[in-house]
Amino acid sequence: MKLFVYHTPELTPDSEVPDCAIAIDVLRATTTIATALNSGAEAVQVFSDLDQLMQVSQEWPAEKRLRAGERGGAMVPGCDLGNSPLDCTPERMQGRRLFLTTTNGTRALQRVQESPIVLAAALVNRDSAVQYLLAQQLENVWLVGSGWQGSYSLEDTVCAGAIAHSVMNANNSKLDDIAGNDEVMGAIALYLQWQDRLLELFHHASHGKRLLRLDGHEDLKYCAETDILDVLPIQKEPGVLVKND
Ligand code: MLT
Repeated sequence: MKLFVYHTPELTPDSEVPDCAIAIDVLRATTTIATALNSGAEAVQVFSDLDQLMQVSQEWPAEKRLRAGERGGAMVPGCDLGNSPLDCTPERMQGRRLFLTTTNGTRALQRVQESPIVLAAALVNRDSAVQYLLAQQLENVWLVGSGWQGSYSLEDTVCAGAIAHSVMNANNSKLDDIAGNDEVMGAIALYLQWQDRLLELFHHASHGKRLLRLDGHEDLKYCAETDILDVLPIQKEPGVLVKND
């Protein structure tokens, strides 16, 4: 298996598709998606465009839907919730579809939605993604960070490194065996440097600082936890993620 890391949707090739693409937005979209499905949401449907979200979700029974919107880290007025994974409690999520739009994470998912397999991963469900990759015998896997409006983000790259490092160890392979591009080595190096201080790393990250200004300390703490959820969001139709069985 060859892994390729792309730091942003903009850096992700558009002339080909891999066997499997994993979208990563640790702060916070893919953490929220994993948490919502773990809490019993029927599905998470993602949109980059808010108007489209409102239009599509309008056709869904009101008692079976929740609209979540985030721009610039803050909740979008008119939505039921923002993008905090801590709001995705079983009481709220059970049996409902979460319609979600965020600044970058939902764009990353849309960027790779033509791939035959699309997954969403964060630190909270890192091991679920790794176990899936180990079981599937795939040739090419892309780890696609969401970044922030076209720029690199530490938190997505450290998660890509955590996944790559775990796959490499489990397969007993060497870096050159799994690294499809130089970014894989950079991501693993970042993870090895910060693996025991992920929350501290998030305090250095530009989006971490943005969320702290919005009172997001508890979100940062939760998003920094690793392997706490046994759930793997998988795309069942373009833009719709469900829990992989
Ligand atoms: C994004 O998509 O940019 C993020 O998930 C933003 C956030 O809500 O923290």
